[in-house]
Amino acid sequence: MLQGDVGLELGRRVAESLRSALGVRITPEQALIRPSSAGRGADYQCNAAMSLARTVGKTPREVAEALLAGLDAADLVEQAEIAGPGFVNFRLRDDWLGAQATRLLADERVGVPLAERPGRYAVDYGSPNVAKEMHVGHLRSSIIGDAIVRLLEFGGHEVIRRNHLGDWGTPFGMLIEHLVDEGWTTVEADHSIGDLNSFYRAARAKYDADGDFAERARRRVVSLQGGDEPTLALWRELVAESTRHFEQVYAALGVTLARGDNYGESFYNPFLADTVTELADRGLTETSDGAVCVFPPGFANRDGERLPLIVRKGDGGYGYAATDLAGVRYWTRERDVTDLVYVVGAPQKLHFEMVFAAAEQAGWLDGDHRAVHVEFGSILGEDGKIFRTRAGDTIKLADLLREAVDRAAEVVAERTDLDERQRGQVAEAVGIGAVKYADLANDRDKDYVFSWTKMLALEGNTAVYLQYANARILSVLRRAGEQPAEGAPIVLTAQAERALVLKLLQLPGAVASAVADFAPHKLCTYLYETATAFSGFYQQCPILKADTEDSRRSRLALARLTSTVLTLGLSLLGIQAPQRM
Ligand code: ARG
Repeated sequence: MLQGDVGLELGRRVAESLRSALGVRITPEQALIRPSSAGRGADYQCNAAMSLARTVGKTPREVAEALLAGLDAADLVEQAEIAGPGFVNFRLRDDWLGAQATRLLADERVGVPLAERPGRYAVDYGSPNVAKEMHVGHLRSSIIGDAIVRLLEFGGHEVIRRNHLGDWGTPFGMLIEHLVDEGWTTVEADHSIGDLNSFYRAARAKYDADGDFAERARRRVVSLQGGDEPTLALWRELVAESTRHFEQVYAALGVTLARGDNYGESFYNPFLADTVTELADRGLTETSDGAVCVFPPGFANRDGERLPLIVRKGDGGYGYAATDLAGVRYWTRERDVTDLVYVVGAPQKLHFEMVFAAAEQAGWLDGDHRAVHVEFGSILGEDGKIFRTRAGDTIKLADLLREAVDRAAEVVAERTDLDERQRGQVAEAVGIGAVKYADLANDRDKDYVFSWTKMLALEGNTAVYLQYANARILSVLRRAGEQPAEGAPIVLTAQAERALVLKLLQLPGAVASAVADFAPHKLCTYLYETATAFSGFYQQCPILKADTEDSRRSRLALARLTSTVLTLGLSLLGIQAPQRM
């Protein structure tokens, strides 16, 4: 059972009963209370009898019988019965459910508790490379990472956003020389790079074709690493120019990364040498072909050869792994972060496993300083291959987002009587929401197919479906004229009301499991089920034309609570919920 959920209260009662009846001590969570599948007549079930049977030397059925005999829960349980080998099914009382829902009307957190032990998280996400366009992998990292950050902050954790920009390394020699050739020798604000990828390609082409240029580029790397001020000034310009491009994408997406969150690879330069020294002092390094390596235990290739993490290259330079090791050391030691979260694509899985293993050997990660790789799959085109433009180029995110808003404008145009400006706002909320939600609604481990038709469908598990459901509720509330008074009691009279209330009361569990597994899709599924439950309620239970004034007020309150849940849920995913559509 998950914290804050209605099932937790049931779990508490079940645990008490098991203690008094059988003398076993379990936590409310260990009572394994789960929502029952719809249509079985039960709201929740307890699955604990099976696992407890062996411990207490009884059959699961006997455990279930003892549980029922000792249960003191008449205030919330309407009916409880044993099913199958020893499941216990519970049906909750309507008045209790109504009272719980009523209580939530006045609770801005809608029942979601703050974390009992708030942590300090550093979340690495976005993390594009300077002087290159962001690609769809960076899009996924930005969207998923931002949802995770919002969920953690809502849970009361301290969150440090860290944008691990690729802003250092040998390519910067050729990039800076190319800048010089383009006339950027004096640093002036009115320079700009229209297209980062063309800039990168042009530099690369010159490097490959022109020996003199290549020689200049190599010398430039040495100047950069040596801290030559004019070189650094040009490098800073390049980073600033790229950051402007990235910021446009973040702004269009509604991603909360800001300039102050840039902790690029270069940030760790001052710590690299000490990091290597500390690893060496702990006896963790070996020299292999002139390079200093760590061989964390348990990593080998097919031939059984140990895999190295290269911490210092033969030429004295430091690479990707060294930077990440220095990062773990910095954030755990200097900033006392409890949890490091890396929202990076699945292809880097092995890299992070090895970095974490080495960091554990070094003592930087331990029970109080944890690290997790929140990996994600690829975005595929409708042909099932890696998502690209029709011409086979990588997708430009700015173009993609513009197209999303244009397509959303077409979808909403048919359905609205808003004026042009409002329509523009709705199109943006719907278009950007569609792109983000399509990314979040799938299990992040899996690849998913990018489909405009699917993500902008008005029915189904899409952002626009949720946005419309919410806007419809708000329109009903506007038509009702009065705001339903806070605390107007929610009273259950119809099956569809009951189903909706049960769903609304499960928000805390949905949020908790989305946070626990860094799995925003669990919140998406929950929101979709909630909107579906509302639509059942809306079809079956007249709101404005309810039979009695009490029922009208109760239903208006229920509608308001649903809107609060949908709006909050969408905001935790970083998606707007327009008031009118
Ligand atoms: N810049 C890298 C890339 O584009 C991602 C960095 C991820 N974060 C990290 N700490 N390694 O692949």
